[in-house]
Amino acid sequence: MPQVTALPSAPPERDERMLVAVFCAYTATATLWLLFATAIGVLLAYKFGAPDFAPGAWLTFGRLRPIHTNATFYGWASLALVGLAYYVAARSCRTRLYSAKLAWIGLALFNIAAVAGTIALDLGFNDGNLEYREWPWPIRLIFLAALLVTAWNLIGTVARRTTHDIYLSNWYTVGGVLWTCIIAIVAILPWYQHGLGQVSVSGFYMHNAVGMWFTPLALGIFYYALPKLLSRPIYSYALGVFAFWTNLVFYPIIGSHHFLFTPLPWWLQTTAIVFSVAMLVPVWGGSANFLLTMRGRMRTMAHSYALMFIFVGVVGYLVGSTQGTFEAFRSLQEVWHLTNFTVGHSHLTMYGFVTFAIWGGVYALLPLATHKEPSQVGLTLHFWMAVVGSFIYVISLSVGGTIQGLDWLHGAPFIQSVIDMQSYWVWRGVGGSLMLLSHVVFAWNVWRMTYGSGAPIEPDRHAAAAPESPE
Ligand code: HEM
Ligand code: HEM
Repeated sequence: MPQVTALPSAPPERDERMLVAVFCAYTATATLWLLFATAIGVLLAYKFGAPDFAPGAWLTFGRLRPIHTNATFYGWASLALVGLAYYVAARSCRTRLYSAKLAWIGLALFNIAAVAGTIALDLGFNDGNLEYREWPWPIRLIFLAALLVTAWNLIGTVARRTTHDIYLSNWYTVGGVLWTCIIAIVAILPWYQHGLGQVSVSGFYMHNAVGMWFTPLALGIFYYALPKLLSRPIYSYALGVFAFWTNLVFYPIIGSHHFLFTPLPWWLQTTAIVFSVAMLVPVWGGSANFLLTMRGRMRTMAHSYALMFIFVGVVGYLVGSTQGTFEAFRSLQEVWHLTNFTVGHSHLTMYGFVTFAIWGGVYALLPLATHKEPSQVGLTLHFWMAVVGSFIYVISLSVGGTIQGLDWLHGAPFIQSVIDMQSYWVWRGVGGSLMLLSHVVFAWNVWRMTYGSGAPIEPDRHAAAAPESPE
């Protein structure tokens, strides 16, 4: 049965240095995007309490909101996940990167797209109401080029593996990149971009961006980092494969649950709801696999912040996705659609799941690559401020969003729902500020693990730094 184990041989030193340099550069630039995007997020949050705060065309809500969402998606999460995917592919396949040059080209393309997209949005150029596709389409072509380069490089790396099987993590990461190439191409084809076709493609794109890009890459990290940190195989390899295929079957069709009660065909909406329920299969299967791998190791978990970040990420995946299934029911959409409850769900998943998964992966693997560790104070501050901040963020918007929806449902004047939301928006600002502070600490930790002078890694973790095999 394939599993992660330590093996003695090491790749040639130059290849190893290249891999580490690529991993460090992706993580460092992603961290800069996290700082930038979430500083904008906090500014947006403050604007709910004080709409006149930071006026001026360049700082309007309409321009800054897509800057925040696109920068978190394509600057922060995408770059960090690709850096981790490269490292995991090379290590678990016991080989070197197919091409370090392609990795650098990909890094440049991702960053050029994110910088150009941010500037375009702030100057008021945007592709309108296409959520998460607001960058003008030529810029999205640059992003697509970055994806193609990444797919080629990851597949090339896995193809030259010296191991017999392809370890589960690579199924998820390579699958995720390939699906996203398809999704990004569909989203750019001009002949779907009008009428109801545009609405369905919008649902297809936005849900698959989260479900077929961020989700499989984050799950791929869990499948690699958890066995490595706990020194035990994943609970069930077969369950991981089963979750992979069911994710592929159920996810791509659920996008229309974003457009219930619209003129989209009723059968399409119902299909999206049915498949949203079916998503419980891969979500619960995958989460059970991770939790059962951790079972009986609470003491180890409590002593490792990398494991704690992963644990929160798994809970975020389980709770956020299960919440999504409920949110897809027509009866609950009546209350929650267009309210701040959905913003709570977005952050429970993209933050509580994806972002925590990245942090867990970075803290688990970066010290093994660079042999430098962050300080305990840095880890403690980052973890607790992020957990408490996001908890305040998600709870306040979930409660406030429900009250907002009930106000609308009961026909209260619109301004009543604004008044009712006031204190919840203030709490979101408090939670958001804590989250941003935690990102500053994370940036410091990344600096120490990469280019700065971090503490030398403990000797027993050195041993674990040997390349792994899926056999
Ligand atoms: C797998 C089970 C999931 C289901 C069934 C589900 C369902 C939903 C539903 C029904 C909405 C609300 C649509 C609306 O009222 O407009 C929504 C929104 C959203 N979901 Fe999920 N979700 C799931 C998992 C996830 C995951 C894992 C992520 C992130 C990785 C995610 C990210 C989002 C985002 C960002 C939005 C906001 C979209 C927008 O801007 O309107 N969801 N989801
Ligand atoms: C300090 C941390 C953060 C703060 C304060 C923050 C704040 C905000 C605010 C104020 C909005 C606009 C909500 C609205 O239109 O009503 C928003 C939207 C959004 N943010 Fe964040 N954010 C943070 C971190 C992140 C991160 C790290 C991600 C992704 C990895 C993310 C993803 C999103 C998404 C997907 C939306 C659109 C939500 C929807 O339409 O449902 N945010 N955020």
